[in-house]
Amino acid sequence: MCGIVGYVGTKDCCDVLVNALSKLEYRGYDSAGIAVFENGEIETVKTQGKLDDLRNKLDTVGKPQGHIGIGHTRWATHGEPSDVNSHPHSGARVTIVHNGIIENYIELKEYLTNKGRTFISETDTEVVAQLLDYKYNGDPIKTIDDCMADLKGSFALGIMFKDFPDRIFAVRRESPLIVGVAEGECFIASDVPAILKYTRDYYLLEHNEIATLTADGTSFVNEYLEPITKELKTADWDMEAAEKGGYPHFMIKEINEQPTAIKTTITPRIKNGLPCLEECGITTEKLKKFKSVTIVACGTAMHAGMVGKYVIEDLARIPVNVDIASEFRYRNPIVSEGDLVIIISQSGETADSLAALRLAKQKGATTLAIVNAKGSSIAREADMLIYTLAGPEIAVASTKAYITQLSVMYLFAFELALAKETVSSAECKRLVSALLKIPDAVQYVIDNCEEKCKFIATKLINADSLLYIGRGLDYALSMEGSLKLKEVSYIHSESYAAGELKHGTISLIDDGMPVIAVATQTDIIPKTISNIVEVKSRGAKVILVCTDACARELKEGIADYVVEIPHSDELLMPITAVVPLQILAYYTAVDRGNNPDMPKNLAKSVTVE
Ligand code: G6P
Repeated sequence: MCGIVGYVGTKDCCDVLVNALSKLEYRGYDSAGIAVFENGEIETVKTQGKLDDLRNKLDTVGKPQGHIGIGHTRWATHGEPSDVNSHPHSGARVTIVHNGIIENYIELKEYLTNKGRTFISETDTEVVAQLLDYKYNGDPIKTIDDCMADLKGSFALGIMFKDFPDRIFAVRRESPLIVGVAEGECFIASDVPAILKYTRDYYLLEHNEIATLTADGTSFVNEYLEPITKELKTADWDMEAAEKGGYPHFMIKEINEQPTAIKTTITPRIKNGLPCLEECGITTEKLKKFKSVTIVACGTAMHAGMVGKYVIEDLARIPVNVDIASEFRYRNPIVSEGDLVIIISQSGETADSLAALRLAKQKGATTLAIVNAKGSSIAREADMLIYTLAGPEIAVASTKAYITQLSVMYLFAFELALAKETVSSAECKRLVSALLKIPDAVQYVIDNCEEKCKFIATKLINADSLLYIGRGLDYALSMEGSLKLKEVSYIHSESYAAGELKHGTISLIDDGMPVIAVATQTDIIPKTISNIVEVKSRGAKVILVCTDACARELKEGIADYVVEIPHSDELLMPITAVVPLQILAYYTAVDRGNNPDMPKNLAKSVTVE
């Protein structure tokens, strides 16, 4: 959802900005640009297209020479991707890059137009640049503060004032921004990976704080313009974690990292064979009191919540609702004191999920965040917090974050069930021990199913539409399988509860239509098999993901292709079964010539509504 960067130091600024932007391209990649102080003037180079297009343009027009500047990679919101709508945007004395949305930009534009200002782009960002220029009074901080009072919406801004060629300024409201520091240089960035090549030390800018960056260091003021001292943080991710490490794409690298990611996430939360989430603020006393659970999230994180619903209800016997954050926040949802609302988010910055969290708190519910990005807004605002320890996830399509979200859902469900006394300590120990074996099962699937999935992908590339079917946990999982395929291959697909097909959707089946069936739950396998027979007899090409035990029982000809995965405790099967679905989506995308790391129209961190 747009990445912004900034640099002040002694290095070639252009190189630093482009390198930093290359680590943020996952946030948006329809245009890119930079602005650098060169001999006291602000030189801007920007273009529609990917960062490579900007690199080419810089080679053609010449790189601005300087040591201070800002940069941007865009995911268009206001105005189509074009050179003129690309950031940076300028007024006469101010140049800015922006991530977020200015909700009242139309009013402000009208106001400024009446004052004689003209605009060349369709963006909300240019309105901010013009407003800053209009209000400029020789004091950048006071000018920024004055403008902020007029702005509604979300923003992280990197700002250059022509009169101050030795510094850049940064400010945020809602949209994330960090300020990195190293010897003789400092940075701004939307996310930590952008600066890891240069430093691991950074400050988290809080809402309405303004930062000033010079080669001598950084200073901060709060919303009352009082100087403040901030806590220096150190990133525990290293460069390697944010690089492709020999894989052709981040997506396949991250799929391969899943066994480690699960291990890292669950191991520290297990003590004496039982789940222990006390460090996350979760105690038996608190858990005992909850009368219901509502899980709210977007996209893949919401699908992790769907699996969570089945598992929590099954083990802890309390009702669980799962809601899409953008629906929850506008529906006057029924949650209050005594209810637990779980927000799941990889980035911890998704605008709708953050709004849902705030609404839940306002209604008196207790909130628990399951988040991957350290120090993100959702992580900071929730009452209780469990970090997924997946490390940086760069590919837009989420894989290792999802699998760690699932792992945390299981640990939480075990702990809740213990507190509610719906499972015994011995049973819980058995489940935990089964969970500890899952990383090996996931590794087994990666090692043994990749070739088969790669082959099956060649059979999917020409499909117009696909169906994913399953029952129970397999249905919850097939939602994620279907989303993964859609995101990266651009083939239409839907997931359906297998038993519901006959109430309408089966009419879509015709000769050769691929149907991906997931069958891992022994008690309902015969039912799913009947549904497979129904679609097969109407011409579907069936790809079945099932346990090795199930595969042994299959009658000849039921499925066209079978992907066998190792059998583990049935409740835990989604963690293993999602892996072939991810690999299938990855190779289908690659075979269709798509870049799976940067699917069209998508962004990884959606900080707008
Ligand atoms: C975007 C991403 C998805 C992600 C969703 C929620 O749509 O492309 O991969 O699942 O946002 O993001 P979050 O960071 O809240 O998990």
